[in-house]
Amino acid sequence: MQRDAGDVSSSKPSLEFFHYKGVPFTKDSIFTEENIRFVESEFQVQDDDVYNVTYPKSGTTWMLEILSLIYSNGDTARTRTVPNWLRSPWIETTNGQEQLKDLTPPRVLTSHLPYHIFAKSFFTSKAKIIYTLRNPKDVVVSLYHFSKISRFFQDARSVDEYLDIFLRGDLLYGSWFDHVRGWMQMKGRSNFFFITYEELQQDLRGSVVRICDFLGRELDEAALDSVVENVAFKAMNDNKMANYTYLSDEFLDHSKGSFMRKGISGDWKNHFTIAQCDHFHRVYREKMRNFPVKFSWDEDWTEEGAPVL
Ligand code: A3P
Repeated sequence: MQRDAGDVSSSKPSLEFFHYKGVPFTKDSIFTEENIRFVESEFQVQDDDVYNVTYPKSGTTWMLEILSLIYSNGDTARTRTVPNWLRSPWIETTNGQEQLKDLTPPRVLTSHLPYHIFAKSFFTSKAKIIYTLRNPKDVVVSLYHFSKISRFFQDARSVDEYLDIFLRGDLLYGSWFDHVRGWMQMKGRSNFFFITYEELQQDLRGSVVRICDFLGRELDEAALDSVVENVAFKAMNDNKMANYTYLSDEFLDHSKGSFMRKGISGDWKNHFTIAQCDHFHRVYREKMRNFPVKFSWDEDWTEEGAPVL
């Protein structure tokens, strides 16, 4: 376990937030209060919609690619010619709202919105949600690096500083704990499916089969092979329509890093000190007290609080 070698000073001016029902959103033309209110209260969910919902840095883009290829029966024509954000727009952004007008059903849409401000019309529809979660310590590390290239996340001088921001939930979309607790209330509903980034890593093919079952899509072996092959980290990294290199510098500062960074589980071990782990686990245990679902990362530390390395 080592301290992050890349501690550097912050190069971005501080971002300002507005809060919508307690959730911070970066003040930017992409996020406006009117738009978030519109999505929550007026956006019309369609029964055949599928929503790719995540807390940021949890595997959103990976799931988006999996869903695109499941819906094309493994045909890569669209995933190689249409940028992912147009294939599955973010419903809560002003740009996404415009982009989704061009979609034909069944729509695959993306969102990072927490449960309590998600589109109300979803809850009376037959639309489906796939909720992807990731070890929150890896989310912190991924966010720390992403914040250096993204216009919407405050960057930090060190992982330690980011850890504080994360544990306070003082960032775009708010607290991981609230997000997970909120969405996981849906567990057991027939239109809600959850999966972890770690499960995708461990058994990608089996995970794709489970996702297909949930969606009621039958893929033959060749189509399945194509999905698995084309959503591998390397394949997505090589696909300009999946790796965000086409996204304007206005959104991502490509000179500071890549969206497709490492794509591994357990990178927290290369970044967190023992003291940071200990602090993280204390807060985690408190915030997730009595939470009924166990995750693989709950095994990351012993009863005595020591990290399992
Ligand atoms: P790292 O920063 O740890 O590399 P999101 O899409 O929710 O923003 O998540 C981004 C994270 O998912 C990044 O993690 C990125 O590298 C990883 N990722 C994207 N596509 C992946 C793939 N095909 N396989 C594994 N990880 C992937």
